[in-house]
Amino acid sequence: MEPFNNYLNFNTGEILGNCNILIRHLSDMEGMYHDLEAARKIINEGDRLIYRVYNIDVPEKYGHLQHCTSIIYPGRIGNEYHMTKGHFHAQEDTAEIYLVLQGTGKLLMQKKDREVKVLDMQSGSISYIPPYWAHRTINTGNTPLIFFAVYPGEAGHNYGIIKSKGFSKLIIEKDGQIKVIDNPNY
Ligand SMILES: [Fe+2]
Repeated sequence: MEPFNNYLNFNTGEILGNCNILIRHLSDMEGMYHDLEAARKIINEGDRLIYRVYNIDVPEKYGHLQHCTSIIYPGRIGNEYHMTKGHFHAQEDTAEIYLVLQGTGKLLMQKKDREVKVLDMQSGSISYIPPYWAHRTINTGNTPLIFFAVYPGEAGHNYGIIKSKGFSKLIIEKDGQIKVIDNPNY
């Protein structure tokens, strides 16, 4: 394989070059927001774009480094801020790094023993997600949250447990404040 460049627009998070674009609408995240009625209403009214991922095309193999930008658009479903699906890595003993380019948010992480950690995300923050921690990102600001991620080629994604159970915490807006609350359905 030959070395290569791609080009990132720091303002929009878009990558020009050899990448796959993953687009997630609310309808792709059925049941992941706790206010099911609010979600259904938005979907019925024509759906909503929640986030986009520009994933550079690299072999999903040991020794390589996957890398991508994610752009989470601002907004809420009910009182819950826009977020990614969240996942464990299929290969659980693999880590990940997030570098924020624009916007503000939270990085919600959880281990299988239910230990939870929430880190702030803001322009310039570099978050280290150690092996064995599921991770979800949440846009708590009024502008797109844009971050660059790097993770091992073989890591893969496991959405299953998160899809069925979610995380034990929710990030919501209450009285104009960002709150981390217990997930009543967990
Ligand atoms: Fe990941």
